[in-house]
Amino acid sequence: MKKLLHIIATPRGDRSRTLQVSRAFLEAFRTTHPEWNVEELDLFKEKLPPLTVERVDGKYVLLSGKELPVELKGAWEEILRHIERFLAADGYLISTPMWNFGVPYVLKHYLDVIVQPRGLFRYTPNGVEGLAKGRKMVIMTSRGGDYSTAPASTMDFLEPYLKAVFNFVGITELTFVNVQPMDALGPQVRDSKISAACESAQALAWKF
Ligand SMILES: Cc1cc2nc3c(=O)[nH]c(=O)nc-3n(C[C@H](O)[C@H](O)[C@H](O)COP(=O)(O)O)c2cc1C
Repeated sequence: MKKLLHIIATPRGDRSRTLQVSRAFLEAFRTTHPEWNVEELDLFKEKLPPLTVERVDGKYVLLSGKELPVELKGAWEEILRHIERFLAADGYLISTPMWNFGVPYVLKHYLDVIVQPRGLFRYTPNGVEGLAKGRKMVIMTSRGGDYSTAPASTMDFLEPYLKAVFNFVGITELTFVNVQPMDALGPQVRDSKISAACESAQALAWKF
């Protein structure tokens, strides 16, 4: 069985607009991809390890090309478990709203945990090599306003940030579905944007 890891970065459960679109994706995905398992990682329910000085020290040790010393191994266990879980997936669905023009803090925290040398990337004489290569990703985002055109688009740090991080770790087959505006123009516009996004999401699921 292949595995799709669904990473959730909204705390709003059934009331989430982002998850409404992700559910349309998953429904189509499950029908068209029976050989895939879907596993959920809900970042608002997960107790992510804080980036303490020991954990940060470990990152610098690995960056210098050395092995983790025994005294840091305990502190790094949880980080390694999260990296392993991420790399065990063959594809990803990320569901995230825009919070203050970027990602909600739990998603930033998760990325700070898993984007580690020897885990998700390594330095080579030819530059950085991403270690999560060959995996596909779909990113559902929803936003209160509409950032699809200038000048508002210059305030969208969500899409460029996620694109940069995942490209850095080798994930280049990455598609965004940005559902917007969810709050600025009222419920009618919101509902029609969600319906259109659900259709795009289903089409993406078929060809994933
Ligand atoms: C803490 C917080 C910060 C937000 N910041 C922004 C923002 O910077 N820009 C924006 O357009 N909407 C912002 N919003 C609105 C959400 O992006 C929008 O309502 C989204 O559809 C919520 O998604 P969800 O229902 O999946 O949680 C913010 C909402 C919250 C709760």
